[in-house]
Amino acid sequence: MVKKPAEFAILKIGDREVKLPIIAGTEGDCGIDVSSLRKETGMITVDPGLGNTAACYSSISYINGEKGELRYRGIPIEELVKKVQFIDVAYLLVHGELPGTEERRKFSDLLNVDSLMHEDMRHFFDLFPQGSHPMHILSTMINAMASFYPNVDLKSLADDIDSSCARVISIVRTMAAFAYKKSIGEPVVYPRHDLSYCANFLNMMFDSPVKPYHIHPETVRLLNVLFILHADHEQNCSTTVVRSIGSAQVNLYATISAGISALSGPLHGGANQAVIEMLRMIHEDGDINKFVRMAKAKDNAFRLMGFGHRVYRTFDPRAVIIRQECENYLNLIHCNDPLLDTAHRLEEIATKDPYFVDRQLYPNVDFYTGILYRAMGIPENMFTVMFALARLPGWVAHWKEMIGSGTKIVRPRQIYIGKELVASEEVEDRNNSKII
Ligand code: CMC
Repeated sequence: MVKKPAEFAILKIGDREVKLPIIAGTEGDCGIDVSSLRKETGMITVDPGLGNTAACYSSISYINGEKGELRYRGIPIEELVKKVQFIDVAYLLVHGELPGTEERRKFSDLLNVDSLMHEDMRHFFDLFPQGSHPMHILSTMINAMASFYPNVDLKSLADDIDSSCARVISIVRTMAAFAYKKSIGEPVVYPRHDLSYCANFLNMMFDSPVKPYHIHPETVRLLNVLFILHADHEQNCSTTVVRSIGSAQVNLYATISAGISALSGPLHGGANQAVIEMLRMIHEDGDINKFVRMAKAKDNAFRLMGFGHRVYRTFDPRAVIIRQECENYLNLIHCNDPLLDTAHRLEEIATKDPYFVDRQLYPNVDFYTGILYRAMGIPENMFTVMFALARLPGWVAHWKEMIGSGTKIVRPRQIYIGKELVASEEVEDRNNSKII
C-alpha cells in the first residue's frame, strides 16, 4: 500500500519554488514525486542508469541493501529456502500468497499439462549453428511461442494467469533441456509427469538411452534452493526491460524473450558464467593479487566478476546461502574443485582491500553459483539459462502487476547533446544521384 504523501520537498529554481510530494512505501526508500515537474517548470530530471529513480510501485519483492535482506511478498528468502519449493515461490510471486494444498495441486497439474513444447518447434533447434549460445536460442524460441500458442492478447493471458504462468515456466524448462541435448548431439528427453519441477529438469538434462540418470534428492533440493534465490529481485535490469516492453502491451512471450536477452549480459545474469571463466584464469595463472590489482586499475576494464551490486552495500544475502550450500554439496559428493579454493582466497583478499571496502563491493549471487552448477554437472554455457529459468516467475509477476496497474507506456526523455539545427542549404539534394 502506498501511503499518502507525508511531506513535500521544495525545489528552488531561480526565484521559483515548486512543492513536490514525498511518497512513502510500506518500507524502504521514500521518493520525491516529480511526475508534474515538466508541466510545472519545463524541466526534467537526469538520472543515467536510473539508480535514483523509482520507475513503478511494486509489492512483489523487497531489498534492504544496507542490511543485506531480500524478501518475496514479505517472506525472507532464508525462510523460503528452508520451508518451501520453487513452485510454491513461483505461485507466491505471481499471486501474492503461498498456495494452499488445492491451489498447489492445481498449479502442479498445470505445470505438467504445459510441459510439452509444440512438437513443430523441435525442428527449430536443428537450424541453429553448432556452438550457438543457449541463451540466444532460448530467447528466440520463446519469442516464437506467440506463433504456436493462440490467445496471446493481454486480456486472455491475464485472465488465465495460472495457465499463462505455468506454460511459460514449464515449456521454457523443456526448451532449455532440449537446447542442451541438441548441443551435445544426444536425443532429447521428454518431461515426466511423475517428477517434481526441478527433478524433471535434471532428468531431461542428464538422462540418456545408454545411461539412465539417477536423480539424487540432495541435487533436487539444491536446485530448488538456487531457483528460489534467483526467482525475483525487484527492479533489476531484465525485470525493468520486461516492465518497459510490457508497457507497450506486447505479448507475454515477446516480453519474456526480451527479459532473457537483457539477462544474458555479463554485468547481469551472464556474470555466473563470467565468474567461472575468471576463476579458471586466476587459478591457471596462480597470482590472485595480480587480478585484484587489475580490477582496481583505472586504465584496465577488468572487473572482479561476481563482485559488487547496485543495491547491496554489504553481502548479498543470496551469496551467503549459496556459499554455505556450495561447501556442503561439494563435501557431500566428494568433489574437490580447485576453483572453490581460488574463490575463497579471492574473496578474502578483496573484502579486506580498501578499494573494495570503500566502494562497498562484496560477493554477489553469481560468485559461488557457477561452482555449484559445475558440481551438479551443468555445463558452463547453461549457467545463465539456469538463472533465466529461475527468474521466470519473477518476470511473470512483474508483468502481471504492471498490466494490472494500468501503467503508462514507458517513454523517458533525454538531454539532447547533438548538433543544433542544420540549415536547409547544407543538406545536399540527392534525388537525382547516379549512385543507387
Ligand atoms: N570490480 C572492480 N571494481 C568495481 C566492480 C567490480 N566487480 N564493481 C564496481 N566497481 C567499482 C567501479 O569501477 C566504480 O569505481 P569508481 O567509483 O572508482 O568509478 C565503483 O565500484 C561503482 O561501480 P559502478 O559500476 O558505478 O556500480 P553499478 O552499481 O553501476 O554496477 C555492477 C553494479 C553489478 C554492474 C558492478 O558492480 C559490476 O560490474 N560487477 C561485476 C559484474 C557482476 O558481478 N554482475 C552481477 C550482478 S548481481 C546479479 C545480477 O544482477 O544479475
